[in-house]
Amino acid sequence: MNIIKFLLPAFLAVLVACTSGNAEEKIRNNDTTINTNRTLIVYFSWSGNTRTVANIIHELTSSDIMEIESEEPYPDVYNEVVARFQNERDNNILPALRTQVENMDAYDTLIVGTPIWGGLLSPPVKSFLAGYDLSGKKILPFCTHGGSGTAQSVDNIREVCPDSEILQPLAVYGSRAENSRNEVEEWLAEIGLIKD
Ligand SMILES: Cc1cc2nc3c(=O)[nH]c(=O)nc-3n(C[C@H](O)[C@H](O)[C@H](O)COP(=O)(O)O)c2cc1C
Repeated sequence: MNIIKFLLPAFLAVLVACTSGNAEEKIRNNDTTINTNRTLIVYFSWSGNTRTVANIIHELTSSDIMEIESEEPYPDVYNEVVARFQNERDNNILPALRTQVENMDAYDTLIVGTPIWGGLLSPPVKSFLAGYDLSGKKILPFCTHGGSGTAQSVDNIREVCPDSEILQPLAVYGSRAENSRNEVEEWLAEIGLIKD
C-alpha cells in the first residue's frame, strides 16, 4: 500500500510532463505553419553543395527560388577564395550583388542557404540580407559545411536581421548534400512548411 502511495504521484507527474510536452510541440508547429506561395528560397553556393540542398527544398515546397550571385564572381581556385573571403571578413566588406528581388513584399518567409565560411555566414548572403528591410518576416536558415555545423551563421543572420523571426536551422554536411533529402524533408515537416 505504501509503495502505491509513493509511486502514484511519481507516475502522475511523468504523465503530466509527457502530455504537456506534446501540447507545446503542437502549438509551436501551428504557430510556424508557412504558406509556400509566399516563401522565397535564396542561397549562395561556391562549389555546389548549398545549391543541391536548395534545389531539394524547392522540389519539396515549390517555393520560388533564387541564387545569390556576386557582381565579381568568386575565383575557382580554393586558396584564392579563402584569400578573398578573409579580406571581406577582416574589412567588413559586403560584396556587391547581381541578385535583386524587386517584390520582397510578396514574401513572408525566406529560406536562406549559405556555405559556412570561417565559421560564418558567407559574405554574399550577409550582403543580400543587409540589402532589404526584412522586419517581421520569418527566416529559415540552412547551411552546408565541412564539419562545423551552423557555427556562428545563425547569430550572423540575427545581427543583420534583428527584427525577423529566425526559425530552427538545418545544417547539412557538404559531402552529404546529394543524399540529404530525408533530413531536409524532416526539417521542413517539423517547422510546419506545407506544400499547397
Ligand atoms: C572559404 C571557405 C571557408 C570554409 N570554412 C569552413 C568552416 O569554417 N567550417 C566548415 O565546416 N566548413 C568550411 N568550409 C567548407 C564549406 O562550408 C563546405 O564545403 C560547403 O558545403 C560548401 O558549400 P558550397 O558547395 O555550396 O559552396 C569552407 C569552405 C570555403 C571555400
